[in-house]
Amino acid sequence: MKTKRLRRCELSVPGSSEKMLAKAATVAVDHLFIDLEDAVAPNRKDAARANAVAAVHDTTFRAPTVAVRINDLTTPWALDDMTALVEGCGDRLDVIVVPKVLGPEDVLFVDRLLAMLERRRGLARPIGIEVLIEEIQALDKVEQIAAASPRLEALIFGMGDYARSQGMPVTDVGETDDYPGDLYHYHRNRVAIAARLNGLDAIDGPFADFRNPHKYRDEARRAALLGFTGKWAIHPSQIALAEEIFTPEPARVAKARAMAAAYAEALERGEGAISFEGKMIDVASVKAVEEMIAMADRIEARSAG
Ligand code: COA
Ligand code: MG
Repeated sequence: MKTKRLRRCELSVPGSSEKMLAKAATVAVDHLFIDLEDAVAPNRKDAARANAVAAVHDTTFRAPTVAVRINDLTTPWALDDMTALVEGCGDRLDVIVVPKVLGPEDVLFVDRLLAMLERRRGLARPIGIEVLIEEIQALDKVEQIAAASPRLEALIFGMGDYARSQGMPVTDVGETDDYPGDLYHYHRNRVAIAARLNGLDAIDGPFADFRNPHKYRDEARRAALLGFTGKWAIHPSQIALAEEIFTPEPARVAKARAMAAAYAEALERGEGAISFEGKMIDVASVKAVEEMIAMADRIEARSAG
């Protein structure tokens, strides 16, 4: 049974920054990942990898899920990343984030390699995988990628690299403003559908302008409306914004609970469609809010526990 994690926000922490790694331990966020990829300069790759192993092994993070983003499979670093992480972190590593996958074979390769390394290390619990959909090849095969491994937990839409891959003239990561409409509507929609078909989370990527909460919120909201369950943060100030957008609003949850209760009573009376607060509800209305209620329950259970 796959672990169901909260991922309203995933905080990226550069593995080469001991300062940010120390700070990250104290941050309350659903999920954080230590980055070995694009936030780390090539001449700091080995040091960042060693920092990541030490941090995951030795630190008690407030975040319930701790992940590491490895380098992509075309680099000379990815093999050492995976080997060192599984050997050195043991069962403290929850998830590996794989950037720039190009097709299902990349996911399968990581799956098989993790299985070998876990067996060698004697680990009982499989390490999960999240992949970045950030190349045109990946979007083209997103349905196959999403079905490639039982370890897969989430698809992340990485709009920074994606824009480059499609030849979009975007300079600021995550910005969409002068497009007449939503520049990433199509891409997010495909990622959301492929994720959903396979029971995965769809997570929205970074927004670089961390001093602009309004635009961050707008982008998160666009993703949320398409069925995404979370967004990356590159700075701690973005965490609360993501949590606000991806936490069901208490008033809507209360209304949904009242509606479900009223409908259960209606069914007892043998009525399948009733008037609730002046509007028709039927079984579809109740089904439509079940997931929101379940999500609210999970968040409440997390805060209580
Ligand atoms: N994780 C953990 N701590 C972070 C952080 C992060 N991603 N970003 C900032 N902080 C810390 C800073 O170290 C600082 O700590 P302090 O209060 O102990 O001094 C505090 O939060 C406030 O940071 P601030 O001074 O506003 O920002 P900065 O100039 O230090 O850093 C960035 C700005 C963009 C360089 C930094 O946020 C960063 O590197 N983000 C991650 C980038 C990344 O991972 N990119 C790859 C994925 S897209
Ligand atoms: Mg990228």
